[in-house]
Amino acid sequence: MIKLECLLLVLVLMTSVVARKEPLLGRWSPIKNINDPKVIEIANYAIATFDKRFGTKKKLEKMIEGETRTVEGLKYKTRIVAGMDYFLIFRANDEYGEFQNYGATVRVIESLHFRNLTGFVPANS
Ligand SMILES: *[C@@H]1O[C@H](CO)[C@@H](O)[C@H](O)[C@H]1NC(C)=O
Repeated sequence: MIKLECLLLVLVLMTSVVARKEPLLGRWSPIKNINDPKVIEIANYAIATFDKRFGTKKKLEKMIEGETRTVEGLKYKTRIVAGMDYFLIFRANDEYGEFQNYGATVRVIESLHFRNLTGFVPANS
């Protein structure tokens, strides 16, 4: 009987892991070195992806600040992986030479070399 109970418990635990549809999001915390080349690269990825989608030509001028949070239990194709969300605020200029601050959100799954731009909005300075 004990064995059966253990088995049931294991099954319940397993299904709660498998059945969880939403990834588990950590708390946002500030990026200490906003000029880290890795962070700048993600900002450039966000700008390039936005440009491609909307036919604009923006250029990163200056990193301002940013935050990251962990993302656990992401489903990617058939795998469950962990990732990181980056929320970055930076200043960029456009093809008319006008400057604007933007906030971009990028989901990064480093183990799969995967990135996805999930948000890109003008931000106040
Ligand atoms: C990328 O992000 C968009 C917007 O959140 C989402 O609709 C899309 O499914 C994502 N793509 C992948 C491959 O995860």
